[in-house]
Amino acid sequence: MSITFQESGRMLILSTAHTSYVLEIPEDRPIRHLYYGPRISEDSLGYLFPTMDISFSPNPHDFRETRTISADVQPQEYSSINTGDFRIPALEVLTEDGVFGVDLRYVTHTISPGKYTLSGLPCSDGTDGDAETLTLTLADARTGLTVELLYGVYADEDVLTRSVRILNKGQVTAELRKVSSMTLDIPYGTWDLIHFHGRHAMERQMERFSLPHGRTCISSLRGASSHHHNPFVILADSAATETAGEALAILPVYSGNHQTEIELDQMGLVRIVSGIAPDQFSWELAPGAIFEAPEIILSYTASGLEHLSHTLHLFLSRHLLPAAWRNRPRPVLINNWEATYFSFTSEKILALAREARELGLDMVVLDDGWFGRRNSDNAGLGDWTVNEAKLQGGFADLIPGIEALGLSFGLWIEPEMVNEDSDLYRAHPDWALTVPGRSPTMGRNQLVLDMTNPEVREYLYNTFSTLLRRYSIRYIKWDMNRNITDVYSKTLPAHRQGEVCHRYILGVYELLERLTREFPDVLWEGCAGGGGRFDAGMLHYFPQIWLSDDTDAIERLDIQYGSSFAYPLSTISAHVSACPNHQTGRTVPLGTRTVVAMTGAFGYELDPATLSTEEKAQIRDHVQRYRSYRELIQTGLYYRLAHAGQNGWFTAWSSVSQDQSEALVSVVITRTRPNYTGVHFRLRGLDPSARYRLDAVHLEGVRGIVDSGHMETAGFEQVHFTGSTLLYAGYTLPQLGGDYPGVQLHFVREQN
Ligand code: DGJ
Repeated sequence: MSITFQESGRMLILSTAHTSYVLEIPEDRPIRHLYYGPRISEDSLGYLFPTMDISFSPNPHDFRETRTISADVQPQEYSSINTGDFRIPALEVLTEDGVFGVDLRYVTHTISPGKYTLSGLPCSDGTDGDAETLTLTLADARTGLTVELLYGVYADEDVLTRSVRILNKGQVTAELRKVSSMTLDIPYGTWDLIHFHGRHAMERQMERFSLPHGRTCISSLRGASSHHHNPFVILADSAATETAGEALAILPVYSGNHQTEIELDQMGLVRIVSGIAPDQFSWELAPGAIFEAPEIILSYTASGLEHLSHTLHLFLSRHLLPAAWRNRPRPVLINNWEATYFSFTSEKILALAREARELGLDMVVLDDGWFGRRNSDNAGLGDWTVNEAKLQGGFADLIPGIEALGLSFGLWIEPEMVNEDSDLYRAHPDWALTVPGRSPTMGRNQLVLDMTNPEVREYLYNTFSTLLRRYSIRYIKWDMNRNITDVYSKTLPAHRQGEVCHRYILGVYELLERLTREFPDVLWEGCAGGGGRFDAGMLHYFPQIWLSDDTDAIERLDIQYGSSFAYPLSTISAHVSACPNHQTGRTVPLGTRTVVAMTGAFGYELDPATLSTEEKAQIRDHVQRYRSYRELIQTGLYYRLAHAGQNGWFTAWSSVSQDQSEALVSVVITRTRPNYTGVHFRLRGLDPSARYRLDAVHLEGVRGIVDSGHMETAGFEQVHFTGSTLLYAGYTLPQLGGDYPGVQLHFVREQN
């Protein structure tokens, strides 16, 4: 049993292999959160929080004379407003009869095998063997609102999940103004916040700072989890490093407007509240109605950030990604976007396919521009019929033509959007989100379809399921190229417009659920102008997501670095593109671009017709190399060995197989320097007592340095090492010249 009730201390204890999470259920006051950290015994923990009279922190009526109990200073399990706790509330409610806030008290709890599910929301799965569920029921006597706190406990994975269900058992309608999925009070410690900010083409830049007093808020109000503020955050002990120290992951399984607030309060206690962003949100909860909040995945480690990432990578791969793709090798594809943009014909795509076959690739993906009058990004979205002026004979000719070459076919779509210049918009202007009487705000000259409207979803389901049934399409790239404004649905009355943003994402999830369930063998790739919706909610439907519209290898080092803190490499879609790079104008050697793109689901995004014979030969080798390392990259444990953002000149990382039998180490020098003795780093994750052989060295983009003769080949003579040597003494690459040289080293465990 990973969930136990300890009668004497009235404690509920959620145990995983290495952690304990403890609640106290006093009979006469709100539930207290006592502990989340390394696994401890079942001693009572109430002593941790002495009760005392703190001025200006009010007391429940029963404690008006002793004045020793205040929700304002005691750690809470699910915080509200207007009943004595002035810190961040998780729940804000206003009832029809004017009651603001709830005073939640314990009613009952149940413990059941397996994992709870949420209706209409993505969440992690689990069998009776690998998960247990705690449902903790609280109620507010005045309003009749009941709150079920849901906990999934994955003992072997060191993961907890949380969610909340609100039931209106009262007599009057309640307006939910804020429903967070959790409160987590962390009473002791000195904490840093790590989060991942960015912008279009520069997503998930890691930032770390020590928490100031007051509230810090990481949030997106863009109708998507956003390029700008990824929902994933880490609370790390201020001394925590990659390999040591306490760290807590908070990973919302949600793709819409999100918010994680962190407050360092008057007593030095940290409160985290996470869930749907309350801005532009309200939800009418009539008597008898139920509202469920998105899931949050939590994990605590005492062993540093790397261990936290491994826990999340394994957990997402086992319990959240679409089941059919969890361990399935991903095809090596070529996408025509940066090769042609909107300007292509069947001949051009077939020529690209012929080249792709010669290069040894598996799949051709046709990106934006294949439908309606889509000759630029000003028209056509919504009209999902083939533009035969470009593709003569349509898919009926094109797809068999590609398949005859031994390649499979993939297709780009952007279901959630419409151009004003489209037949769909002309027929159904009311299907777009616009505020009556106001000119809509445009993004990429397109409007957002009202995904809260069942008619819209039905149209999209019929359109794309027909396409998938009719043609042999093995992959879909589902894009979303603007953020949401003009939030107003013609299907909801005025007083319920606050429901639109959340209902929008519920509508997207419903459509995705329907399509991915019906076509589980299609490889669905997520995209939102690159990584504008790279989150755990989307990963429930998309086993991989286009990481960024920035395909520059050097920029991608940072984006991949930040993304890797939560998301497994198998979810990162990464392509080699042409140089000078289309986003930055930078030129990076082809081999180094390949080393970087191999950090994920690998492919190409260039016109092979522009490649030299020598480059084509290189690519053939690269593709074979990727195939030989693919399983290691997609299922191995990922180690961030060095980062140019910290050391100023090189980034190194590795994938180590879970049985420690092989490791692929990659290094890119981002700033070549003169007169150094070598690039030094320590490997991680190897078996210290095993012997390893340096089985392959791949040098990319290395240029000799005048007067140093043998420099680029010397230094790899020693091929036998013990694991401990590589782990503790480390490895040194010789001095490597050139612009952005890249290296891959493959180590294999030797038989004794
Ligand atoms: C944004 C995507 O990220 C690109 O890869 C490409 O598909 C374009 N949209 C097409 O409009």
